[in-house]
Amino acid sequence: MRTQVAIIGAGPSGLMLGRLLDRAGIDNVIVERQGPDYVLGRIRAGVLEQGTVDLIEEAGIGARMRQEGLPHTGCELSFDGDTLRIDFDALVGRSVMVYGQTAVTRDLMEAHRREGGPVVYGASDVRLHDIDGPAPRITYALDGEAGEIACDFVAGCDGFRGVSRASIPADRIRSYERVYPFGWLGVLVDRPPVSDELIYAHHERGFALCSMRSQVRSRYYVQCGADERVEDWSDDRFYDELRRRLDPAVADRLVTGPSIEKSIAPLRSFVAEPMRFGSLFLAGDAAHIVPPTGAKGLNLAMSDVRCLYEAFADHYGAGSSAGLDGYSARVLARIWKAERFSWWMTSLLHIFPDTDRFSRRIQRSEFDYLAGSRLAQASLAENYTGLPI
Ligand code: APR
Ligand code: PHB
Repeated sequence: MRTQVAIIGAGPSGLMLGRLLDRAGIDNVIVERQGPDYVLGRIRAGVLEQGTVDLIEEAGIGARMRQEGLPHTGCELSFDGDTLRIDFDALVGRSVMVYGQTAVTRDLMEAHRREGGPVVYGASDVRLHDIDGPAPRITYALDGEAGEIACDFVAGCDGFRGVSRASIPADRIRSYERVYPFGWLGVLVDRPPVSDELIYAHHERGFALCSMRSQVRSRYYVQCGADERVEDWSDDRFYDELRRRLDPAVADRLVTGPSIEKSIAPLRSFVAEPMRFGSLFLAGDAAHIVPPTGAKGLNLAMSDVRCLYEAFADHYGAGSSAGLDGYSARVLARIWKAERFSWWMTSLLHIFPDTDRFSRRIQRSEFDYLAGSRLAQASLAENYTGLPI
């Protein structure tokens, strides 16, 4: 098989890139290790920046998001019982859209099925060849048969543990990492959310987050130990812990029900740079990870994909390599700012097991500063709703 762009990974990055290339008439094939149901089963954050909303519209898959997405003009922070509303609209004139990543992935998959290029699901032993030259190839196995794709470029959209980043020689890529000493235990439940807006809560027992997927489906999280097991958390234990970390008035409003998903996610900050090696370009989680505090993961992936798509469109349309040459530097500038913001929000809101008394007071003083400064709130709102590319 021959194509112009071979895309590794059919998560949101790979599917969105494929979709944009299809619409621009640029030939592409997506190769995915898992099946579509597995990809859809992963529950991730659900807050879209305006830039992500715009990209979804431009990709022609915005109909359901427009109907079912919930525009949010602010969010709430709570710190040891004191609360502060961050009014995005009043502070920076922007808002966000609450619409789950699973829903975005489903909308992309349906569009691909209707009118998209080929997606090879269930490909094993995916390997990249000759990526340091102008004629790279992908090989894989599918149902015991060998497959090969010759292409002009490879887009590595295969997530943190994918094969693309690992195919770059170690001396040509540099990574930066911080692993946090805790995780998030999340529960999805078909009950109305406790509040119209998201609540991020710092409490001496640990962080908690009240989020939602719709008016009738809620997503809750509590900070837990990095090595805890989900089997040790019954629904009752989870809700008890959540209630203790929320303002009593909010806790009283919590409507509980049987969890329909429960999982523990580790927290990590990670960046690999540069995001290009020869004819291989990395996008999304393949190159960077943020902790979920601030919900930047999907938004960063989408801004990478927008830039990469524009670069390919420039290459095939205007014959210019400027976009491809500038891709890595352009996206990394934004990625590092989102890394900083996610790290900062994580540091403010969590209990770190080895925190001394001084650091606890600094956390408190950070919150007090935010509460008393419209400029500090504007900075939070500017970052939360999304910096420009
Ligand atoms: N070969 C083919 N496909 C692979 C391989 C491989 N060797 N390794 C991984 N994949 C696939 C995975 O099965 C997955 O479907 O690549 C896809 C990567 O998807 P994601 O991990 O969702 O990454 P991305 O598309 O960049 O989406 C970023 O996901 O983790 C969240 O917070 C993050 O919301 C952000 C989004
Ligand atoms: C979620 O709804 O899953 C969610 C929302 C906001 C975050 C993280 C996760 O910061």
